[in-house]
Amino acid sequence: MASASLAERLAAIAARTDEVAGADARQLEALKTELLGRKAGALTEVLRALPSLPPDERRAVGQRANQVKRDLEAAIAARQETLASAGRAASVDLTMPARARWRGAIHPVTRVVDEICGIFRELGFARVVGPEAETEWHNFYALNFPADHPAVDAHDTLYLDDGVVLRTHTSPLQIRVMNGYPPPIRVLMPGTCYRKDPFDASHAPAFAQIEGLAVDEGISFVDFKATLTWFAQRFFRPGTRVRFRPSFFPFTEPSAEVDVLCFLCKGGGCRVCKASGWLEILGSGMVHPRILRAMGYDTEEVTGWAFGMGVDRVAMLKYGIDDIRLLFENDLRFLQQFAPPVTPPTLIPGSEGGGHPAPGHEAAGPTEARP
Ligand code: PHE
Repeated sequence: MASASLAERLAAIAARTDEVAGADARQLEALKTELLGRKAGALTEVLRALPSLPPDERRAVGQRANQVKRDLEAAIAARQETLASAGRAASVDLTMPARARWRGAIHPVTRVVDEICGIFRELGFARVVGPEAETEWHNFYALNFPADHPAVDAHDTLYLDDGVVLRTHTSPLQIRVMNGYPPPIRVLMPGTCYRKDPFDASHAPAFAQIEGLAVDEGISFVDFKATLTWFAQRFFRPGTRVRFRPSFFPFTEPSAEVDVLCFLCKGGGCRVCKASGWLEILGSGMVHPRILRAMGYDTEEVTGWAFGMGVDRVAMLKYGIDDIRLLFENDLRFLQQFAPPVTPPTLIPGSEGGGHPAPGHEAAGPTEARP
């Protein structure tokens, strides 16, 4: 009987609803076509055959068919949603290595400035800073530069205004300190200096210097040599050889340039020391008596020495950097090499529960005791 067979077919279709819950994406598509397909779906065919039933049966079977269709559609939609969210979860790879922790680093030049200041601090030297925009008078004339000295020429110096320059060295700070304080003076003065230089492997138009100045009763050139040699041994390595070469600066007399033995070739001569075996690190000398007198000091009583060290140079020597531009390019791959290793954060005793981790060990100098 046609009506019985339609009801049976409907029951068989309803029974297959269970298959939906276990189907994968492809099986689900196949089931949809097989049961609900518009052309030859099993249920579609049942619905299409309904008009052939006698009216009293048609109503009951019709209702049942619609119910089975709704159930099937709901089961398929639910299964589709389950499969889609499983797919989204699968795209998160929990075994992927974590992103490396970001490590901040002190710039190598800043690091070297701090280290040099730290070494001289042991000898009682204070740290002093001053303006980068400097008067022509402090930068040159107070330092005994004659007006026709080539360094005064606009070729080397960057002028900001009439009588105002970007300082070409840190020596004007000698004048500022001696103008402001009576002897004894022991100061270290780090800072950026500017010259119209090319930007190549060994020059930069902005560079760091550290000025050293000691003025006191009875200071001699021997004090200077001993201090500088002690510094080189501490800063570079024990046994570092230092050479003092006669030189000229308008504000020192006598003047000397200081070289250290090239670490790479040990004096044999190489590309870095330009075959000389030595590397120049600073200019220096005994403070010129004319300058001491101009500052109102009694040159019968006080004498002094001064030096101006090229910090980029010294940093390059210390860390084996062969191009000064690396110090300016802010390439993190370069700078990260100066970052301290990651240490697990430690809690300050007593701050457990919401306290901040202890600051990095770099932050506090050994002399800055914490209570
Ligand atoms: N200011 C000099 C320079 O930049 C270096 C120097 C400093 C020389 C102090 C003598 C004394 O070249």
